[in-house]
Amino acid sequence: MDQTLIADEAPRAADPLGDWKRSHTCCQLTASDIGAEVCLMGWVQFRRDHGGLIFVDLRDRNGLTQVVFSPDHAPQAHERAHVVRSEYVLAIRGTVRSRPEGMANPNMVTGEIEVVVNDWKLLNTSKTPPFAIEDRVDVGEALRLKYRYLDLRRPRLAQNFLLRSKAAQSVRRYLDSLGFLEVETPMLTRSTPEGARDFLVPSRVNLGNIFALPQSPQLFKQLLMVAGMDRYDPIVKCFRDEDLRADRQPEFTQIDIEMSFVDEEQVMDMAETMIRTLFRECLDHELPNPFPRMTYQQAMAEYGVDKPDLRFGLPLTDVSDIVRGCELRVFAKAELVKGLRVPGGETMTRKEIDELTEFVKIYGAQGLAWIKIRESEWQSPIAKFFSQEERDALAKRLGLEVGDIVFFQAGAADMVNAALGNLRVQLGERLGLIDESVFKPLWVTDFPLLEYDPEDKRWVAKHHPFTSPKDGHLEMLGTDPANALARAYDMVLNGNEIGGGSIRSHTLDRQTAMFKALGIDAAEAEEKFGFLLSALQYGAPPHGGIAFGLDRLIMILAGAKSIRDVIAFPKTQKAMCLLTEAPGEVSLAQLRELGIKLRSRDKDKDKA
Ligand code: AMO
Repeated sequence: MDQTLIADEAPRAADPLGDWKRSHTCCQLTASDIGAEVCLMGWVQFRRDHGGLIFVDLRDRNGLTQVVFSPDHAPQAHERAHVVRSEYVLAIRGTVRSRPEGMANPNMVTGEIEVVVNDWKLLNTSKTPPFAIEDRVDVGEALRLKYRYLDLRRPRLAQNFLLRSKAAQSVRRYLDSLGFLEVETPMLTRSTPEGARDFLVPSRVNLGNIFALPQSPQLFKQLLMVAGMDRYDPIVKCFRDEDLRADRQPEFTQIDIEMSFVDEEQVMDMAETMIRTLFRECLDHELPNPFPRMTYQQAMAEYGVDKPDLRFGLPLTDVSDIVRGCELRVFAKAELVKGLRVPGGETMTRKEIDELTEFVKIYGAQGLAWIKIRESEWQSPIAKFFSQEERDALAKRLGLEVGDIVFFQAGAADMVNAALGNLRVQLGERLGLIDESVFKPLWVTDFPLLEYDPEDKRWVAKHHPFTSPKDGHLEMLGTDPANALARAYDMVLNGNEIGGGSIRSHTLDRQTAMFKALGIDAAEAEEKFGFLLSALQYGAPPHGGIAFGLDRLIMILAGAKSIRDVIAFPKTQKAMCLLTEAPGEVSLAQLRELGIKLRSRDKDKDKA
């Protein structure tokens, strides 16, 4: 490259734009603009030299426009354009013209036109990027996250953020039209029990005391209802220190909603209209009205999980009663035995079955029993344990046909449901049963109020402790806690829990009874939630709400595989930001001010 040319072009002025003003984005110009004088600014996607002409695809977050440097049209501008390289930042002034016969690109919004350059400015140069700024290039995620600002230039990612912004605006417009108020709640607060670990922030002024970052604004939104705010709706950051997965981040965004004087039908009606409106405005897609509903019990029975993916079949079938007397002890003695029939699965290889067996072990299964239904026989290591009568009953209950494979899981109910429920999703993906262009929303209702935590050996709230029991179920907390139901609801979309909420306990009596059932005594309740218990005594209105995971919602809208593709600066699976290298060390002086001595600083001592 001619170094003198670069030196000549390198922008030195503090304001390299001067009086140049951008007239259009790089995705705006069409045939109706032919003849217009325009000014575009953006990054060089490609430069191609063709028989004297230099072509540049100029890119911004919206798309591309082809610009042409022609020696006949503007010789000087053309001569200077030889320095241009990928990712250089240019401003060009030019004339819109039709692309030559046969050169139109019907796949691009701007595909019918090109801009022939009259004059141009180099606004900045760029080092050669560590990866090409293209969707098709397969780049390791670590490199992408380290150079996230380059990654975000890639068209597919950029589109995700346009969609995200559009979705947030749609939600705000809808909620505003219903009279919701946006009120900000504190980020430095006390821990709220939402089931995850807290991120803690030590207080310098109150040495030894520690703030928690909110896992959700749950208690503040309830207090705002006591304050008479009536309807509250911020889009708010939440923080949960939990193990990360493709659909979880330690720092994520909720559309957080609370309403006074409502029952669950009103909250659900408002919420599903919001989601329908969002899909209509962002994807031009019409979701069903109303959304289908399923009780928690039905979801667990048929799908083994409380967030069933309804885009495909493969329901689970309880066969416990049929195998109760069979000769296979693990089946006969099990709390629950379920089967999963895969039509046409008889051709599965041993290797494939072994892989599925390894998969279910993640969920605590010891193995995976199976039977292949052949014309002449049931081919299976376990077939011999069933009498003819049991075989007939299984065939009838499961609807078995020649060519099927049926998988069985036997054991504790939670394990059986988790193993087969997740196996179902795995099979749906492997067998290509999932139509990615389909959206299947679902409400799951009638959740249990409590669930038993075998590690801690105590009952914990299934949703959170502020959820109201159903009418008549408060009384069951002392006698039959397993069957007490909550006024809670989750919205599920394509097998993802995108939102969850409940009607709250709005009287002191109900909230206190709930704490008691959770083993929180009066002193502890007062210490942790005294402010809430106090507020409930000052005319708290009946209220309820819901929170949506905005990131998860956008992930589904965008058809992204990971939540990281819809968060501008996400954390890795190990909860790190590779761009800023957070979390990082802080100085001893900072720690001392906070009264903190780190054990891990003295690594050798720690190891010892
Ligand atoms: P919940 O805990 O169900 O309810 O959270 C609501 C929604 O937030 C999303 N979500 C997450 N998204 C990304 N990463 C995470 N780590 C993560 N955790 C949760 C999910 C979930 O459905 N205070 C209650 C709401 C209420 O009762 O109104 C709450 O936070 O999509």
